[in-house]
Amino acid sequence: MIKIIDCGSQLTQNIARRVRERGVHSVIVPYNKSLEEILFGEYDGKIISGGQFSVYDSGAPLPPREILEDGTPTLGICYGNQWIAHALGGKVEPTQSREYGKTRIKIMRASPIFSGIDDAEFDVWMSHGDIVKEMPSGFEVVALSESGHIAAMQNNERRIYTVQFHPEVDHTAHGRKMLENFLDVCNAKRDWNQEDVIASIISRIRDEVKDGIAIAGVSGGVDSTTLAVLMDKALGNKFYAISVDNGLLRKNEGREVEASLAALGINLIYVDESERFLEKLKGVINPDEKRKVIGNEFIAVFDERASRLRGVKYLGQGTLYPDVIESVPVFGCSSKIKRHHNVGGLPEKMNLKLIEPFRELFKDEVRQIAERLNLPREITWRHPFPGPGLAVRIIGEVTNEKLEMLRDADYIFVEELKKRDLYYKIAQAFAVLTNAQAVGVMGDEGTYQCAIVLRAVTTNDFMTADWYDFNKNDLTSIANRIINEVKGINRVVYDVSQKPPSTIEWE
Ligand code: XMP
Repeated sequence: MIKIIDCGSQLTQNIARRVRERGVHSVIVPYNKSLEEILFGEYDGKIISGGQFSVYDSGAPLPPREILEDGTPTLGICYGNQWIAHALGGKVEPTQSREYGKTRIKIMRASPIFSGIDDAEFDVWMSHGDIVKEMPSGFEVVALSESGHIAAMQNNERRIYTVQFHPEVDHTAHGRKMLENFLDVCNAKRDWNQEDVIASIISRIRDEVKDGIAIAGVSGGVDSTTLAVLMDKALGNKFYAISVDNGLLRKNEGREVEASLAALGINLIYVDESERFLEKLKGVINPDEKRKVIGNEFIAVFDERASRLRGVKYLGQGTLYPDVIESVPVFGCSSKIKRHHNVGGLPEKMNLKLIEPFRELFKDEVRQIAERLNLPREITWRHPFPGPGLAVRIIGEVTNEKLEMLRDADYIFVEELKKRDLYYKIAQAFAVLTNAQAVGVMGDEGTYQCAIVLRAVTTNDFMTADWYDFNKNDLTSIANRIINEVKGINRVVYDVSQKPPSTIEWE
């Protein structure tokens, strides 16, 4: 077993899942637990997570230094690297040349963590403003970044290894191999298996709900559909899925969701409340305000429909780990990035008990469950779609006219991706209607119309993402089709920003 000492990073669960992916059990312990609690029980090694503080900040997460004396191997990641340097007498400093996103590193000396990696230089994902300026005694440099900062160091004798970058994200080349190497250093047994995960979720739902009735909102995406299938398996006709068309769905989506749930044999209540949502969104421009309005209206609609069913006591939600951390501060460290409307609100209002079987999982882990459940590919690998829907893909006020333009452009984009066999190679692709107008010419006429953005990203965990590198012909044909076929659009631009520092959605 590996202990992960959490210093408040948004990526702590990524570390945990990478470890469980290798078949090793892991437990997350907050940095501010007592020394006894952190060291409690048997374990093979520990990983100190990243975090958003500088070690010199007041309130910075400073685990008890004695954890480094427990005799098991240690891996420090990002802030964890800086904290180890600081705790053992090295020097950490802010740097002018901060490194965010893709950064190249150069291996300077052999290390068990880099064993079996043949590249002498490769790209890693960084996100830091401080650097280790002076290493503690007994340490040696293992890798340097392009800017000459220490990117990895080690004290082989004490089996302490640190990296300034994030091996737990997909965009770090060889990240999985490095973590695998660390597990080898720890001599950790690969005996933790996920075989029983479905059975255990089903039995937990059954134990919790007993004779009550449960409901869940279903959007047609992989999380809510997988949840509905599991709840249906656990509860049969004591479960109802409710699908709300809020008028902010993609072209034809509402009816498609209805059909796919019917095909899975799930009790479904489908409600079309588009008008009501659009009325409430009149004049709303601010993204957070849009989320709030939609969230509140969703609660009202859901509440009305559910109260027509007798004896409902439980609400299932497909909340994933990234929804949790991007909505609530963890130990006061993770900053709130966006308000995700699918977390919170409903249970308090409706006096329902919440069931969230996916709260510690990432989307790709839910997809593995969906595959094991034999859900259709269109559901399992459907690109995610935010709860507030197209409202957060229209910059400025949401109107019917803009929704129609965006729906048509988005539909063409996705249709072309499917036609070109690109859809399943991309994690998420969509169009965003900007509030910018651009000048153009069509025939002999001058035009002054809307500019639309296409966004297509590759990612597994949606915590970091890179833009998809289209070939020029594909992108050109898609842009041409949109401009030719969607009235009101005369310009298409492609978004080449990475997450971080940008997010996947525009609002
Ligand atoms: P960002 O934009 O934060 O998106 O990089 C990460 C993933 O989350 C989705 N997303 C949302 N999902 N309600 C949701 O249910 C929301 O308010 C919301 N905002 C973003 C986004 O589509 C991406 O998959």
